[in-house]
Amino acid sequence: MSVRRLAPDPIQPASFAFTAANENWIDQQIAKYPEGRQASAVIPLLWKAQEQEGWVSRAVIETVAKRLGMAPMRVLEVATFYTMFNLQPVGEFFVQLCGTTPCALRGAEALKKVCEDVIGPQSTVTADGKLSWLEVECLGACCNAPMAQINVDYYEDLTPASFRQLLDDMRNGRATKPGPQNGRTGSEPEGGPQTLTDKALYDGSMIGAGDWQKRVVEQRKAAAEAAAAKAAAEAEAKKAAEAEAKKAEATPAAVATKPATETAAAGRPKPSAPAQPSSAANDTPAAKGKVEKKDVAEAAKPAATAKPAAVAKPAPAPAATDESKPELLTAARGGKGDDLELIWGVGPKLAKMLNEMGVWHYDQIAKWTPAELAWVDARLTGFKGRALRDDWIAQSKKLATGWRPESKLGDKPAE
Ligand code: FES
Repeated sequence: MSVRRLAPDPIQPASFAFTAANENWIDQQIAKYPEGRQASAVIPLLWKAQEQEGWVSRAVIETVAKRLGMAPMRVLEVATFYTMFNLQPVGEFFVQLCGTTPCALRGAEALKKVCEDVIGPQSTVTADGKLSWLEVECLGACCNAPMAQINVDYYEDLTPASFRQLLDDMRNGRATKPGPQNGRTGSEPEGGPQTLTDKALYDGSMIGAGDWQKRVVEQRKAAAEAAAAKAAAEAEAKKAAEAEAKKAEATPAAVATKPATETAAAGRPKPSAPAQPSSAANDTPAAKGKVEKKDVAEAAKPAATAKPAAVAKPAPAPAATDESKPELLTAARGGKGDDLELIWGVGPKLAKMLNEMGVWHYDQIAKWTPAELAWVDARLTGFKGRALRDDWIAQSKKLATGWRPESKLGDKPAE
């Protein structure tokens, strides 16, 4: 190791200042330390200065000391202790040649001679400013000795010829390839790996894993097949449910379910019967136990027998794209929900569906926007269109004020 002193006065610059970008970086580094401990940033600051100038001059040391509130001597101690700080100007390509035992045994002495021949004495820069060199201690790449670090890259497995070529390439701006220079890709033996070549070392069989790879492949395949079958079954069920719902909606008599049963309950002439799913039938006033069984039977007659006058206008379907999830509750407020069956068109089944969805109170429904109404409607399987047709929002607004209809079926909205 050479004696580490500052460069002679004639080559010391008069001043030094960090660039604006580096000033910004320095502020961030200093901020990492607690108040009064800014001196801890001395190495990062010296390193940044060296990155900027290539070496650490007296002016750098004084600037860093001032910036950190340190005595310049303290910064000098750090700069001269750590060999990573260059105390002399360096060339554009700064060669740090390892001269420690493994590299020495593998030919570092011959490389030193190349440096002296091509560059000159240590710590001097070539006239063109391109090259300078320094012998350093072990750089930790002994497996690929002899080696040199040039700027930030390692060049390994050097020979005098390859090293001379390397320096020539750098000086003349030709591209170089860091790493081993003898064809190795790492620190494997020259000529390729000689040991640990048995493939069984890497397939688990040595530790009794057997054909675990095959098992894993089979398990993954089975899991993928099960997932695909499940997805197909779900898609099929969804399709069937949608078709069923569409069928119920498309039947004019289905739309007239409530009026039909309501009229029956009121003793008026019975309108056409709904040809709708059993779930819909369950949600009629008949299902509430408010009409005679024969009324239900008659209500269940095919739509073909219905009188045209009894066919209510089809419910306008809200646009699917206008859906918006309304406010939903996890339970009724105060432990008791409103009697949603007082809403015309809502029977026990629909009331249950609404409760399960999170709708318990009139004021919830009264606040729905058209998009929220559409969101709820789309999820009332088998009753699609009913909320809009019977104007639940308007009904709920009235109910929320405390008003109550005469009939427990609700107050039929005006056509
Ligand atoms: S001895 Fe040269 S890298 Fe270790």
